[in-house]
Amino acid sequence: MTSFRTRAVHAGLRPDPTYGSVIPAIHQTSTYRQSAVGEFVGDYDYARSANPTRFALEEALGELESGRAVAFSSGLAAAHALLVHVARTGDHVVLPSDLYGGTFRLIDKVLVQWGLDYTLVDQTDLDALAAAITPRTRIVWVETPTNPLLNVVDVRGAVERVAASAGSGAGARPLVVVDNTFATPVNQRPLELGADAVVHSTTKYLGGHSDVVGGAVIASDEALYEGMRFVQNAVGSVPGPFDCFLVHRGLRTLPLRMAAHAESAAAVSAFLRTAPGVSDVRWPGFSGMVSFRHPDAIGIAQRTTLFTLAESLGGVESLIEVPQAMTHQSVEGSDAAVPADLIRLSCGIEEPADLVGDLRAALAA
Ligand SMILES: Cc1ncc(COP(=O)(O)O)c(C=O)c1O
Repeated sequence: MTSFRTRAVHAGLRPDPTYGSVIPAIHQTSTYRQSAVGEFVGDYDYARSANPTRFALEEALGELESGRAVAFSSGLAAAHALLVHVARTGDHVVLPSDLYGGTFRLIDKVLVQWGLDYTLVDQTDLDALAAAITPRTRIVWVETPTNPLLNVVDVRGAVERVAASAGSGAGARPLVVVDNTFATPVNQRPLELGADAVVHSTTKYLGGHSDVVGGAVIASDEALYEGMRFVQNAVGSVPGPFDCFLVHRGLRTLPLRMAAHAESAAAVSAFLRTAPGVSDVRWPGFSGMVSFRHPDAIGIAQRTTLFTLAESLGGVESLIEVPQAMTHQSVEGSDAAVPADLIRLSCGIEEPADLVGDLRAALAA
């Protein structure tokens, strides 16, 4: 098999058969001509159900995550599709005790109304994870590294503990789902570690340029993949063709960008560990996400100039935010609440010394 870096460049791309364009055309269409009633090319009867630009992205995502991918209009749409396909009224999911606030809100504010129950647990403690599984648990939802505290969960260990819980008579084995948004398949491929499904916000590193919102579910099991395709069409939260094109283009440089993000994050976290007033510096050792605590979190976030004050992450440009006041308001007051003095950085691919200089100036002011 060719290396990941080579596959990232070629995955899902075949020259256009009509004109030979190296990059296939963007199929910006809502429907397809039928030569006779019910006669159309392949699956292409209507663009919610099938679109060649979307299929090309799905093929690429599947190849890079070692499964079969279904693309959605956002990361949360992908999470929603998976949850409603797998879980029913009365079922239970195990969630990480720190996770993206929007995922928590989807479950805590929307799906609980349909009878879904959940338990928050520190998933770095595999005993605690195993103890949270009940006979009604259908999904163990892993996010690693977590957003925003950058805790790393042992995916293979979680898979083993979940398998053992089923063997102990706790009921059917729950699915292990991994939100791989922060790690990306460059650093971690959960399906190869035994997980059942991967969820992405392609808005982040996969798109990589802060110019598109999208999501995906990738599964290795054929029935789960078919189920996701069914929900994609039945619910209709599909990404547009141009958005698919942008994410697909982003994938081609993903390995190069992830190396540059990590280089920036290494320099930034090394500086922060020596900076006065800064505590609890976290960087998992890969990817571009760094978090730290400082009593003047809001002041610092408003003083940087290269780090733009904005929600989101994973683009080539650096971003800074205060999770408690911005991305994680929906967990306020819950067991997943985040500290008010926490700053989250998405380190971009700029010159690392310039990023350090920007933070040094913002901390000194
Ligand atoms: C880890 C993680 N998962 C999922 C999402 C949701 O993705 P989207 O904003 O594309 O719906 C986000 C968004 O920030 C995220 O950080």
